[in-house]
Amino acid sequence: MKKYELPPVPYSYDALEPHIDARTMEIHHTKHHQTYTDKLNAALEKCPPEIQEKDVLEILSNIGQVPADQKGAINFNGGGFDNHRIFWNNMKPNGGGEPGGSIADAINTSFGSFSEFKEKFSSTTALIQGSGWGWLVYNPSSKKVEYKSMPNQTSPRTEGLVPVLGCDVWEHAYYLKYQNKRPDYISAWWNVVNWDDAASRFDKAKQ
Ligand SMILES: [Fe+2]
Repeated sequence: MKKYELPPVPYSYDALEPHIDARTMEIHHTKHHQTYTDKLNAALEKCPPEIQEKDVLEILSNIGQVPADQKGAINFNGGGFDNHRIFWNNMKPNGGGEPGGSIADAINTSFGSFSEFKEKFSSTTALIQGSGWGWLVYNPSSKKVEYKSMPNQTSPRTEGLVPVLGCDVWEHAYYLKYQNKRPDYISAWWNVVNWDDAASRFDKAKQ
């Protein structure tokens, strides 16, 4: 059976300062992401071989095929494994600004303008009840980008959507620095968005 390992963060834990603090990054990666990874492996061990031999992305995209007794654990921990793997790469030091090229065109088509997209993403993500994620996703059915909020660690892939850019709004993502001020964290997060990474996910999803 394939065993998943903790995916790397492609920069140092203090690289996103002052927007996201080093201590939060370290705990988020070494404790939270590690736990999702370990629990994904533990859940897969209890799955039949025909599930174990599939890649986690394929499993998430066909979550209905997971046996009922492991479905919740795979949905949560497999989602947590993949979501955070995307999240680290969705950010970079000296990020932010606005995207260009085809993803910018897609955002304009779906939301009217970049500023309208940013406003919708920020305000809707800030209002997610409890823990969850705000996502810019590509919908292969409509061939458009959309905003989608997802509860807990449920991956957009479970709804046939391709993650492009995600903002983790679990309290573990911001509480040490921002406490209850989730909107302030989201505002700061825009300064570290890696639009090159989002653009490459979008371009790949369209193929
Ligand atoms: Fe997280």
